[in-house]
Amino acid sequence: MSKMMWAGRFSKEVDSKVNDFNSSISFDARMYKHDIKGSIAHATMLGECGIIDPADSKVIIEGLNGILSDIENGTLHFDPNAEDIHMFVEAELTARIGDAGKRLHTARSRNDQVALDIKLYLKDEVDEIAKLVRELINTVIDIAKQHTETVMPGYTHLQRAQPVTFAHHLMAYAQMLTRDLTRLADCKERMDVMPLGSCALAGTTYPLNRKRTAELLGFKDITMNSLDGVSDRDFCVELCSDISMLMMHLSRFSEEIIMWCSWEFKFIELDDAYSTGSSIMPQKKNPDVTELIRGKTARVYGDLQTLLTMMKGLPLAYNKDMQEDKEAIFDAVDTVKLCISTFTPMLATMTVLKDNMRTAAAKGFINATDCADYLVKKGLPFRTAYKITGTLVALCIEKNTTLEQLPIEEYKKLCETFDNDVYDAISLDTCVMQRGVDGGPAPDAVKRQIAELEDRLGGI
Ligand code: ARG
Repeated sequence: MSKMMWAGRFSKEVDSKVNDFNSSISFDARMYKHDIKGSIAHATMLGECGIIDPADSKVIIEGLNGILSDIENGTLHFDPNAEDIHMFVEAELTARIGDAGKRLHTARSRNDQVALDIKLYLKDEVDEIAKLVRELINTVIDIAKQHTETVMPGYTHLQRAQPVTFAHHLMAYAQMLTRDLTRLADCKERMDVMPLGSCALAGTTYPLNRKRTAELLGFKDITMNSLDGVSDRDFCVELCSDISMLMMHLSRFSEEIIMWCSWEFKFIELDDAYSTGSSIMPQKKNPDVTELIRGKTARVYGDLQTLLTMMKGLPLAYNKDMQEDKEAIFDAVDTVKLCISTFTPMLATMTVLKDNMRTAAAKGFINATDCADYLVKKGLPFRTAYKITGTLVALCIEKNTTLEQLPIEEYKKLCETFDNDVYDAISLDTCVMQRGVDGGPAPDAVKRQIAELEDRLGGI
């Protein structure tokens, strides 16, 4: 741009370094569609209200549609010298249609325009992210359905604790991801309020029909305070926080997959298409995808920190600091989409090594609680039963055996209440089957959990 928009007030051109420093077009150009859509709605409303000549409104809309299709078909390129996407589109419009183009910005400021554009852009992105999360949840559920009887050790402190099933373990992630989905829906609800008409900060003297603009753009409502309308970036922070939580869940899932792939666990094997090798160690098959997701979680948390800190202590209303919102929220959105769209097919193609899960579950005394419960069911107080079982576990460790293999005589030596039925009570399958409480790992309980979640997902 050779001549600045504000040329009337200034006697000099802006220093080219300042121009570059000030410019956001390199990262806000991606909002071109939303900027044009917002301008078309604004021009439509201005024409309908008689604020500009309806004939001008028509020419403006045609001009904007022309710009949109030229950007999309690659014949119009963004001018890197433009300050931002809003200035670029307006200048291009005026170059194309002349004076009518200069009327588009009536009763509007870039302050409400940019707030509008980001909301329009992020509303679409929320839908995209939600779609990806839904696909991931469905993939998790599909795998869970095949593994309601696959016994594996459940852990606390990363120590084998009590038996669960692979389905139950997976469904824990489906629950987290479903909460993420509801958070995204909730965030979109609060984002769905149209700021245009707030203008620079103090609204306008023109008789705008803001509700009409909102209707044209598919917003549920309009903002009710012009200062807030232009200076609110809560929705960016909120979305970034929701994405951070989503990444937190993905990183936990990723971490488990990394462990499960190791020779120490060997609970699963990732498909070759989703693994990488080593440049020196021929035997290696590395879970790079999951490690990257774990790593990228850090950068999304960084984006959240950027947004929170950028907004901290900002006086009303618009301040240029707020231009820094875009790179952070765009990065968070891009990163989470990239992560989920790689993670889902990786999960769908992995091989579950059931036998290894079961072997691991058979070691580590994860049926010790059930052994204690056996005595409780025969009338002993829990603390007494707990102590007896602890002594039995120590005995097994000493004899290098398991509770299942320990002869009944040894049991009886410690407590007369034990009988041969103890072996059934502490068998892995019994331990899982008996945990049929709502939310428990027993196959029927997990099937109920899946059905309940599928039902709930239908309503989100
Ligand atoms: N590029 C600016 C942003 O992203 C647009 C708003 C500029 N408004 C202003 N008064 N300088 O925030």
